[in-house]
Amino acid sequence: MEIIKVENLYTAFGDNIVHENLSFNVKEGEIFGVLGGSGSGKTVLVKQIVMLNEIQRGTIKFFDKDISNLSLKEIENIKLKFSYLFQFGALYSFLNVIENIGVMLKEYTNLPKDLIEKISYTYLDIVGLPKRVAKLYPSELSGGMKKRVALARSLAMQPKILFLDEPTSGLDPGSTKQINELLLYLKNSLNITTVIITHDLETIKTVLDRFIIIKREIIFDGDINAAMDSSNKFVQEFLTNTKDA
Ligand SMILES: Nc1ncnc2c1ncn2[C@@H]1O[C@H](COP(=O)(O)OP(=O)(O)O)[C@@H](O)[C@H]1O
Ligand SMILES: [Mg+2]
Repeated sequence: MEIIKVENLYTAFGDNIVHENLSFNVKEGEIFGVLGGSGSGKTVLVKQIVMLNEIQRGTIKFFDKDISNLSLKEIENIKLKFSYLFQFGALYSFLNVIENIGVMLKEYTNLPKDLIEKISYTYLDIVGLPKRVAKLYPSELSGGMKKRVALARSLAMQPKILFLDEPTSGLDPGSTKQINELLLYLKNSLNITTVIITHDLETIKTVLDRFIIIKREIIFDGDINAAMDSSNKFVQEFLTNTKDA
């Protein structure tokens, strides 16, 4: 079952044409990757899907519903099914770890305080962080730990679809490996449709079920084996040199 359908998306900022004729689907339960060089419009694309950026031309459907034609009530309902972790999506510096994890639940649900705390501790555990970090503040955490806390905050909303914008960017190789292991664990244990923007070859090879590579248009749509077999020069370059892409 297709959960997201993007059809003929066109996006330009002045003379800068970012997307041309983008069409692709994301299926339910899939870990789907959005790849492309820097400035290729990956973040803009995901922001359009989660209704933070406007759609200029083309359509985006969520469960076969065109998101441009929704009532406010429907938008609210759909937004509750999304959770996203943006590239520079920071934690609140004035809240400790456990409060950061629960902040969305506090904002968007009517759950009692002690239940929110319980849920938050569950997700702290799910992302592999020990209880002793619960009362620490973001400034006391390593980069990898911050990403985990942000991921726990997104997961705590029990999203139908999770969007992750470069979850390993800025991390050292050790922390990157840990985040990839965590993503793999989440893939195998929670059945959440996930859209990941990434440059990391390890994420691409081990975590993604399928991915697209965008360069204004879609230049590849398939899995890692198909990408390796592709005769497209850019696809090959991308796979051998993703860090510089
Ligand atoms: N609000 C905006 N106004 C003008 N240009 C924008 C805006 N948002 C993004 N862009 C441009 O669109 C292109 C794609 O940006 P982005 O989606 O952030 O790329 P990336 O693939 O690195 O995530 C870039 O050239 C960026 O400068
Ligand atoms: Mg980006």
